[in-house]
Amino acid sequence: MRVLITGGAGFIGSNIAKEIERTYPRAKVYVLDNFSSGHFKNLLGFKGEVITGDIKDPQLWDYLKKEYEFDVIFHKAAITDTTITDQRLMMETNADSFRYILKSALFWKAKVIYASSAGVYGNLPPPMREEGPAEPENIYGFSKLIMDKIASNFLEEHKEIKVIGFRYFNVYGEGEAYKGKTASMIYQIYTQLISGKKPRLFKWGEQRRDFVYIKDVLKANMLALEKDVSGIFNIATGESRSFNEIVEVLSKELNIKTEVEYFDCPYEFYQKHTQADISKARELLGYEPEFSLEEGIKDYIRALSS
Ligand SMILES: NC(=O)c1ccc[n+]([C@@H]2O[C@H](COP(=O)([O-])OP(=O)(O)OC[C@H]3O[C@@H](n4cnc5c(N)ncnc54)[C@H](O)[C@@H]3O)[C@@H](O)[C@H]2O)c1
Repeated sequence: MRVLITGGAGFIGSNIAKEIERTYPRAKVYVLDNFSSGHFKNLLGFKGEVITGDIKDPQLWDYLKKEYEFDVIFHKAAITDTTITDQRLMMETNADSFRYILKSALFWKAKVIYASSAGVYGNLPPPMREEGPAEPENIYGFSKLIMDKIASNFLEEHKEIKVIGFRYFNVYGEGEAYKGKTASMIYQIYTQLISGKKPRLFKWGEQRRDFVYIKDVLKANMLALEKDVSGIFNIATGESRSFNEIVEVLSKELNIKTEVEYFDCPYEFYQKHTQADISKARELLGYEPEFSLEEGIKDYIRALSS
Protein backbone atom coordinates (compact mmCIF):
# COMPACT_ATOMS: atom_id res chain seq x y z
CA MET A 1 0.00 0.00 0.00
CA ARG A 2 1.36 3.43 -0.99
CA VAL A 3 0.09 6.22 1.20
CA LEU A 4 0.35 10.00 0.85
CA ILE A 5 -0.36 12.15 3.90
CA THR A 6 -0.72 15.86 3.24
CA GLY A 7 -0.17 17.93 6.36
CA GLY A 8 1.83 14.99 7.66
CA ALA A 9 4.11 17.18 9.79
CA GLY A 10 1.06 18.54 11.62
CA PHE A 11 -0.75 17.23 14.67
CA ILE A 12 -3.26 14.81 13.12
CA GLY A 13 -1.24 14.02 9.97
CA SER A 14 1.93 12.98 11.84
CA ASN A 15 -0.09 10.73 14.15
CA ILE A 16 -1.67 9.08 11.11
CA ALA A 17 1.73 8.63 9.42
CA LYS A 18 3.10 6.80 12.45
CA GLU A 19 -0.09 4.80 13.00
CA ILE A 20 -0.02 3.54 9.39
CA GLU A 21 3.57 2.44 9.84
CA ARG A 22 2.64 0.62 13.07
CA THR A 23 -0.45 -1.06 11.61
CA TYR A 24 0.84 -1.74 8.09
CA PRO A 25 4.62 -2.27 8.42
CA ARG A 26 4.94 -2.95 4.68
CA ALA A 27 3.20 0.25 3.59
CA LYS A 28 5.22 2.94 1.82
CA VAL A 29 4.33 6.18 3.55
CA TYR A 30 5.01 9.68 2.20
CA VAL A 31 4.37 12.91 4.05
CA LEU A 32 3.74 16.12 2.10
CA ASP A 33 3.96 19.38 4.02
CA ASN A 34 5.13 22.98 3.69
CA PHE A 35 5.98 23.19 7.40
CA SER A 36 3.86 26.31 7.92
CA SER A 37 2.17 25.08 11.11
CA GLY A 38 3.66 21.56 11.30
CA HIS A 39 7.03 20.69 12.80
CA PHE A 40 9.73 18.16 11.91
CA LYS A 41 9.81 17.03 15.54
CA ASN A 42 6.34 15.52 15.04
CA LEU A 43 8.01 13.21 12.53
CA LEU A 44 10.79 11.88 14.74
CA GLY A 45 10.35 8.11 14.61
CA PHE A 46 8.60 8.27 11.21
CA LYS A 47 10.39 5.94 8.80
CA GLY A 48 8.97 7.13 5.47
CA GLU A 49 9.86 9.96 3.08
CA VAL A 50 9.01 13.63 3.38
CA ILE A 51 8.11 15.74 0.34
CA THR A 52 8.28 19.49 0.94
CA GLY A 53 5.73 21.39 -1.09
CA ASP A 54 2.66 23.58 -1.16
CA ILE A 55 -0.68 21.83 -1.81
CA LYS A 56 -2.01 24.89 -3.62
CA ASP A 57 0.70 24.66 -6.28
CA PRO A 58 -0.78 22.80 -9.30
CA GLN A 59 2.74 22.09 -10.60
CA LEU A 60 3.43 20.07 -7.47
CA TRP A 61 0.51 17.78 -8.31
CA ASP A 62 1.72 17.43 -11.92
CA TYR A 63 5.14 16.44 -10.58
CA LEU A 64 3.65 13.95 -8.09
CA LYS A 65 1.52 12.38 -10.84
CA LYS A 66 4.62 11.94 -12.99
CA GLU A 67 6.90 10.57 -10.28
CA TYR A 68 4.71 8.69 -7.80
CA GLU A 69 1.73 6.38 -7.41
CA PHE A 70 -0.57 6.26 -4.40
CA ASP A 71 -3.40 4.01 -3.28
CA VAL A 72 -4.61 6.28 -0.48
CA ILE A 73 -4.39 10.00 0.25
CA PHE A 74 -4.97 11.22 3.78
CA HIS A 75 -5.52 14.91 3.11
CA LYS A 76 -4.98 16.84 6.36
CA ALA A 77 -3.03 19.89 5.17
CA ALA A 78 -4.84 23.18 5.64
CA ILE A 79 -4.60 26.60 7.17
CA THR A 80 -5.78 25.51 10.61
CA ASP A 81 -5.69 28.86 12.40
CA THR A 82 -9.40 29.68 12.50
CA THR A 83 -8.71 33.34 13.37
CA ILE A 84 -7.04 34.04 10.00
CA THR A 85 -9.24 36.44 8.03
CA ASP A 86 -7.44 36.48 4.65
CA GLN A 87 -10.34 35.01 2.67
CA ARG A 88 -8.47 34.50 -0.57
CA LEU A 89 -5.54 32.71 1.06
CA MET A 90 -7.88 30.49 3.11
CA MET A 91 -9.96 29.54 0.05
CA GLU A 92 -6.93 28.91 -2.19
CA THR A 93 -5.19 26.78 0.43
CA ASN A 94 -8.09 24.80 1.85
CA ALA A 95 -10.69 24.65 -0.92
CA ASP A 96 -9.03 25.18 -4.34
CA SER A 97 -6.14 22.81 -3.62
CA PHE A 98 -8.68 20.08 -2.86
CA ARG A 99 -9.64 20.04 -6.55
CA TYR A 100 -6.04 19.23 -7.54
CA ILE A 101 -5.99 16.49 -4.92
CA LEU A 102 -9.22 14.89 -6.14
CA LYS A 103 -8.01 15.10 -9.77
CA SER A 104 -4.79 13.37 -8.75
CA ALA A 105 -6.78 10.74 -6.83
CA LEU A 106 -8.78 10.08 -9.97
CA PHE A 107 -5.54 9.68 -11.93
CA TRP A 108 -4.15 7.21 -9.37
CA LYS A 109 -7.57 5.64 -8.58
CA ALA A 110 -6.73 6.38 -4.95
CA LYS A 111 -9.04 6.58 -1.97
CA VAL A 112 -9.20 10.01 -0.30
CA ILE A 113 -9.74 10.55 3.42
CA TYR A 114 -9.83 14.31 4.02
CA ALA A 115 -10.29 16.66 6.95
CA SER A 116 -13.36 18.84 7.09
CA SER A 117 -14.37 20.51 10.36
CA ALA A 118 -17.11 21.15 12.90
CA GLY A 119 -16.48 24.80 11.92
CA VAL A 120 -19.01 24.25 9.09
CA TYR A 121 -21.79 24.28 11.71
CA GLY A 122 -20.95 27.64 13.30
CA ASN A 123 -23.34 28.43 16.11
CA LEU A 124 -26.18 26.16 14.99
CA PRO A 125 -27.95 24.45 17.89
CA PRO A 126 -26.47 21.07 18.85
CA PRO A 127 -26.46 18.16 18.25
CA MET A 128 -24.92 18.86 14.84
CA ARG A 129 -25.82 16.43 12.06
CA GLU A 130 -24.08 15.88 8.73
CA GLU A 131 -27.33 15.98 6.76
CA GLY A 132 -28.66 19.02 8.64
CA PRO A 133 -27.89 22.68 7.93
CA ALA A 134 -24.39 24.18 7.90
CA GLU A 135 -23.78 27.80 8.76
CA PRO A 136 -20.08 28.62 9.06
CA GLU A 137 -19.33 31.87 10.85
CA ASN A 138 -15.77 32.35 9.64
CA ILE A 139 -13.80 31.88 6.43
CA TYR A 140 -12.11 28.75 7.83
CA GLY A 141 -15.48 27.02 8.36
CA PHE A 142 -16.65 28.26 4.95
CA SER A 143 -13.54 26.83 3.23
CA LYS A 144 -14.27 23.44 4.83
CA LEU A 145 -17.92 23.58 3.75
CA ILE A 146 -16.79 24.24 0.18
CA MET A 147 -14.44 21.24 0.44
CA ASP A 148 -17.46 19.11 1.40
CA LYS A 149 -19.37 20.47 -1.64
CA ILE A 150 -16.40 19.77 -3.93
CA ALA A 151 -16.27 16.20 -2.55
CA SER A 152 -20.01 15.63 -3.00
CA ASN A 153 -19.96 16.93 -6.60
CA PHE A 154 -16.89 14.82 -7.38
CA LEU A 155 -18.59 11.70 -5.97
CA GLU A 156 -21.65 12.23 -8.15
CA GLU A 157 -19.43 11.94 -11.21
CA HIS A 158 -16.89 9.40 -9.96
CA LYS A 159 -18.60 6.80 -7.84
CA GLU A 160 -15.66 4.45 -8.44
CA ILE A 161 -13.40 6.60 -6.21
CA LYS A 162 -14.01 6.49 -2.45
CA VAL A 163 -13.93 9.85 -0.71
CA ILE A 164 -14.45 10.17 3.03
CA GLY A 165 -14.64 13.55 4.77
CA PHE A 166 -14.25 13.90 8.53
CA ARG A 167 -15.84 16.84 10.31
CA TYR A 168 -13.53 16.76 13.31
CA PHE A 169 -14.75 18.45 16.45
CA ASN A 170 -12.07 19.54 18.98
CA VAL A 171 -9.17 17.15 18.74
CA TYR A 172 -6.57 17.01 21.51
CA GLY A 173 -3.52 14.85 22.18
CA GLU A 174 0.18 14.32 21.63
CA GLY A 175 1.63 16.22 18.67
CA GLU A 176 -0.44 19.38 18.97
CA ALA A 177 2.13 21.41 20.97
CA TYR A 178 3.64 23.02 17.84
CA LYS A 179 0.28 24.56 16.96
CA GLY A 180 0.95 27.18 19.66
CA LYS A 181 -2.08 29.37 20.29
CA THR A 182 -4.26 27.19 18.05
CA ALA A 183 -3.59 24.02 20.12
CA SER A 184 -6.59 22.66 22.03
CA MET A 185 -7.94 24.31 25.20
CA ILE A 186 -6.88 21.15 27.00
CA TYR A 187 -3.25 21.70 26.05
CA GLN A 188 -3.42 25.47 26.76
CA ILE A 189 -4.82 24.92 30.24
CA TYR A 190 -2.38 22.07 30.91
CA THR A 191 0.64 24.30 30.12
CA GLN A 192 -0.73 27.14 32.27
CA LEU A 193 -1.28 24.79 35.19
CA ILE A 194 2.12 23.08 35.09
CA SER A 195 3.92 26.43 34.83
CA GLY A 196 2.18 27.59 38.01
CA LYS A 197 -0.11 30.11 36.27
CA LYS A 198 -3.82 30.58 36.79
CA PRO A 199 -5.79 29.15 33.87
CA ARG A 200 -7.23 31.95 31.71
CA LEU A 201 -10.69 31.47 30.17
CA PHE A 202 -13.07 33.68 28.24
CA LYS A 203 -15.91 34.81 30.53
CA TRP A 204 -17.37 32.66 32.17
CA GLY A 205 -15.84 29.40 31.05
CA GLU A 206 -19.21 27.86 30.19
CA GLN A 207 -18.46 27.54 26.46
CA ARG A 208 -18.94 23.87 25.60
CA ARG A 209 -17.07 21.72 23.10
CA ASP A 210 -17.18 18.14 21.91
CA PHE A 211 -13.56 17.18 22.66
CA VAL A 212 -12.24 14.09 20.93
CA TYR A 213 -8.97 12.35 21.79
CA ILE A 214 -6.38 11.77 19.05
CA LYS A 215 -6.50 7.98 19.57
CA ASP A 216 -10.21 7.97 18.66
CA VAL A 217 -9.42 10.14 15.61
CA LEU A 218 -6.76 7.62 14.56
CA LYS A 219 -9.29 4.82 14.93
CA ALA A 220 -11.73 6.67 12.67
CA ASN A 221 -9.04 7.14 10.02
CA MET A 222 -8.05 3.46 10.15
CA LEU A 223 -11.72 2.45 9.80
CA ALA A 224 -12.05 4.76 6.80
CA LEU A 225 -9.07 3.04 5.24
CA GLU A 226 -10.66 -0.39 5.67
CA LYS A 227 -14.29 0.37 4.76
CA ASP A 228 -15.62 0.59 1.25
CA VAL A 229 -17.73 3.71 1.80
CA SER A 230 -17.86 7.35 0.78
CA GLY A 231 -19.43 10.24 2.65
CA ILE A 232 -19.05 12.98 5.24
CA PHE A 233 -18.91 12.04 8.92
CA ASN A 234 -18.79 13.84 12.25
CA ILE A 235 -15.84 12.60 14.29
CA ALA A 236 -16.31 13.44 17.94
CA THR A 237 -17.50 11.80 21.16
CA GLY A 238 -21.11 12.96 20.96
CA GLU A 239 -20.79 14.74 24.33
CA SER A 240 -19.96 18.33 25.11
CA ARG A 241 -17.97 19.57 28.11
CA SER A 242 -17.32 23.11 29.34
CA PHE A 243 -13.95 24.85 29.63
CA ASN A 244 -14.56 25.09 33.40
CA GLU A 245 -14.88 21.29 33.47
CA ILE A 246 -11.53 20.92 31.70
CA VAL A 247 -9.90 23.00 34.43
CA GLU A 248 -11.54 20.75 37.04
CA VAL A 249 -10.48 17.49 35.38
CA LEU A 250 -6.91 18.69 34.70
CA SER A 251 -6.36 20.13 38.18
CA LYS A 252 -7.62 16.92 39.72
CA GLU A 253 -5.34 14.79 37.53
CA LEU A 254 -2.32 17.04 38.15
CA ASN A 255 -3.19 17.51 41.80
CA ILE A 256 -3.02 21.31 41.52
CA LYS A 257 -5.40 23.67 43.35
CA THR A 258 -6.14 26.75 41.31
CA GLU A 259 -8.47 29.68 40.59
CA VAL A 260 -9.58 30.64 37.09
CA GLU A 261 -8.92 34.09 35.66
CA TYR A 262 -11.79 35.11 33.36
CA PHE A 263 -11.41 37.74 30.63
CA ASP A 264 -13.50 39.14 27.75
CA CYS A 265 -13.51 37.12 24.52
CA PRO A 266 -11.64 39.23 21.91
CA TYR A 267 -13.21 37.49 18.90
CA GLU A 268 -16.28 38.72 17.09
CA PHE A 269 -17.25 35.12 16.44
CA TYR A 270 -16.72 32.26 18.87
CA GLN A 271 -18.51 28.90 18.85
CA LYS A 272 -20.48 28.66 22.09
CA HIS A 273 -21.55 25.05 22.07
CA THR A 274 -20.54 22.22 19.77
CA GLN A 275 -21.79 18.68 20.12
CA ALA A 276 -21.94 16.09 17.40
CA ASP A 277 -24.45 13.49 16.47
CA ILE A 278 -22.09 10.61 15.66
CA SER A 279 -24.70 8.04 14.65
CA LYS A 280 -23.71 8.14 10.96
CA ALA A 281 -20.05 7.29 11.75
CA ARG A 282 -21.23 4.60 14.17
CA GLU A 283 -23.50 3.02 11.61
CA LEU A 284 -21.42 3.22 8.43
CA LEU A 285 -17.87 3.08 9.75
CA GLY A 286 -18.33 1.14 12.98
CA TYR A 287 -16.75 4.11 14.80
CA GLU A 288 -17.12 4.05 18.58
CA PRO A 289 -15.16 6.58 20.66
CA GLU A 290 -13.28 4.92 23.50
CA PHE A 291 -12.01 7.92 25.44
CA SER A 292 -14.17 10.09 27.68
CA LEU A 293 -12.69 13.50 28.53
CA GLU A 294 -11.41 12.08 31.84
CA GLU A 295 -9.80 9.04 30.19
CA GLY A 296 -8.36 11.06 27.32
CA ILE A 297 -6.82 13.63 29.66
CA LYS A 298 -5.35 10.89 31.84
CA ASP A 299 -3.75 9.19 28.82
CA TYR A 300 -2.55 12.54 27.43
CA ILE A 301 -0.88 13.60 30.68
CA ARG A 302 0.88 10.24 30.81
CA ALA A 303 2.21 10.84 27.27
CA LEU A 304 3.21 14.45 28.02
CA SER A 305 5.13 13.51 31.12
CA SER A 306 6.98 10.51 29.65
N1 LIG B 1 -7.17 19.65 15.45
C1 LIG B 1 -8.47 19.87 15.42
O1 LIG B 1 -9.15 20.00 16.47
C2 LIG B 1 -9.22 19.93 14.09
C3 LIG B 1 -10.60 20.18 14.11
C4 LIG B 1 -11.29 20.26 12.89
C5 LIG B 1 -10.61 20.06 11.71
N2 LIG B 1 -9.26 19.85 11.71
C6 LIG B 1 -8.60 19.68 10.40
O2 LIG B 1 -7.71 18.57 10.48
C7 LIG B 1 -6.56 18.81 9.66
C8 LIG B 1 -5.30 18.66 10.49
O3 LIG B 1 -5.32 19.62 11.55
P1 LIG B 1 -4.18 19.67 12.65
O4 LIG B 1 -4.85 19.94 13.94
O5 LIG B 1 -3.30 18.50 12.51
O6 LIG B 1 -3.43 21.01 12.25
P2 LIG B 1 -1.89 21.32 11.98
O7 LIG B 1 -1.81 22.79 11.77
O8 LIG B 1 -1.05 20.71 13.04
O9 LIG B 1 -1.62 20.55 10.62
C9 LIG B 1 -1.81 21.09 9.34
C10 LIG B 1 -0.57 20.77 8.52
O10 LIG B 1 -0.76 21.25 7.19
C11 LIG B 1 0.45 21.88 6.76
N3 LIG B 1 0.10 22.84 5.72
C12 LIG B 1 -0.60 24.00 5.87
N4 LIG B 1 -0.71 24.62 4.69
C13 LIG B 1 -0.08 23.84 3.77
C14 LIG B 1 0.15 23.98 2.38
N5 LIG B 1 -0.30 25.02 1.69
N6 LIG B 1 0.85 22.99 1.74
C15 LIG B 1 1.33 21.92 2.44
N7 LIG B 1 1.13 21.75 3.77
C16 LIG B 1 0.45 22.71 4.42
C17 LIG B 1 1.02 22.50 8.01
O11 LIG B 1 2.40 22.80 7.93
C18 LIG B 1 0.69 21.44 9.05
O12 LIG B 1 1.73 20.50 9.15
C19 LIG B 1 -6.74 20.21 9.08
O13 LIG B 1 -7.29 20.09 7.79
C20 LIG B 1 -7.73 20.86 10.02
O14 LIG B 1 -8.47 21.88 9.38
C21 LIG B 1 -8.56 19.78 12.88
